[in-house]
Amino acid sequence: MKHRLLLPALASVLSLASVVAGGAVRAADTAPPGASSCTGCHAAQRIPDSVIPRIAGRKASDIVQFMREYRSGAWPSTVMGRIAKGFDDQQIDAIAAWFAAQPE
Ligand code: HEC
Repeated sequence: MKHRLLLPALASVLSLASVVAGGAVRAADTAPPGASSCTGCHAAQRIPDSVIPRIAGRKASDIVQFMREYRSGAWPSTVMGRIAKGFDDQQIDAIAAWFAAQPE
């Protein structure tokens, strides 16, 4: 009998999971590969008192330059140097263009 009580709870967890998964699929349709790994920190929404600089709506050439300098170590950083090493020039160009096209 116990499992009957669990079913409604399980169903609501599953439907929540599909909403979340559906959202991720839609975001991936428009954003280039890798961009979703940036938005966890560089949120699309403005977060008050955040120490993380906003990059949505910035010039693509600026984002590209930052990423290359973080990657080479020419520009000091806490986390971005490590993150930038995971992306090649083409990926950086695509991600920068996408962020530049997002509302500021
Ligand atoms: C773990 C959180 C985190 C993730 C993930 C992340 N960033 Fe950052 N980003 C930061 C922080 C913190 C800074 C400030 C520099 C530093 O301390 O590393 C920053 C700085 C930047 C800057 C410089 C902006 C400025 O005005 O100084 C750019 C451009 C940038 N990130 C792009 C990206 C891109 C593109 C991605 C995805 C590939 C990304 N970031 C992923 C945390 C993150």
